Amino acid sequence: MKKDLLTLRDITRDDLSDIFELATKLKIERGKKVFTPLEGKSVGLIFAKSSTRTRVSFEVGVGELGGRPLYLDQGKMQIGRGETVADTAKVLSRYLHGIVIRTFSHAEVEELAREATIPVINALTDDFHPCQILADLLTIKEYSGKVDDTIKMAFYGDARSNIANSLILAARLTGMELVLCSPAEEQPDKSLYADASNIAWESDPMKAAENVDYFYTDVWVSMGLEEEKERRMKVFAPYQVNEKLFAKAKKNAKFLHCLPAHRGEEVSAGIMDDPERSIVFDEAENRLHVQKAVMSMLMK
Ligand code: CP
Ligand code: NVA
Repeated sequence: MKKDLLTLRDITRDDLSDIFELATKLKIERGKKVFTPLEGKSVGLIFAKSSTRTRVSFEVGVGELGGRPLYLDQGKMQIGRGETVADTAKVLSRYLHGIVIRTFSHAEVEELAREATIPVINALTDDFHPCQILADLLTIKEYSGKVDDTIKMAFYGDARSNIANSLILAARLTGMELVLCSPAEEQPDKSLYADASNIAWESDPMKAAENVDYFYTDVWVSMGLEEEKERRMKVFAPYQVNEKLFAKAKKNAKFLHCLPAHRGEEVSAGIMDDPERSIVFDEAENRLHVQKAVMSMLMK
């Protein structure tokens, strides 16, 4: 694997099968077998945005691998008072064995990774959320037995979100069919998939739902976009994942969501809480297992 995980472009198909294999092993053996590749190591977790799943799964994961997690509020670091990203990277590289970072600017995370001599893992930027999508792919593999061109996913709503962008890279990596369904004024970033025949944009929600195996959606107002809330609520309203769409899909279609979810907005309460269709908590759990696999591969 490469030194850092900044987007799914950093992962090869072989890396992905290694991550699946190790994550599955760690999931089965959790609490039974001790595996401590991070013993004696410290991992800094820098957060400039809110988090429930990412923070907790990384803190718990580092601890279970025998390492010491350090939660660092980016707003309380000197970087918030003008210290450069490069200086921060160099200093932290003298103390830590890895950095996990959630912030706004993706370019800032790229710079941090370039300047740091230790692995850097992107825990969400405005543009990408690779750890989430690795967990999603493992969840699909668990339910379908494979993630390949026989799987069709439809993503509804904010087709330019960090999640949508990362799903595009995931479809490129795995060959799964991906339809991004959004209004004409909020089309996905074509430059990410212009040359990929398995990825398409569709504005008609009913059309996009045909033959779908997995529905996926994300919040309509991502962190940092709060001032656009009113416009976004209006423009995405026809793109809610709900029972009507499931009626068009494959019989056993499942629902995925990175969470946090807003019932009645991007997903109906009925779908979100349907124990037959919604697999969002399996998906959330898998964050822990894939991140443990990734950290032990990058930081051992
Ligand atoms: N899905 C996800 O990253 O959740 P948090 O924002 O709670 O970390
Ligand atoms: N697109 C969302 C994902 C949250 C996990 C956001 O950036 O807020």
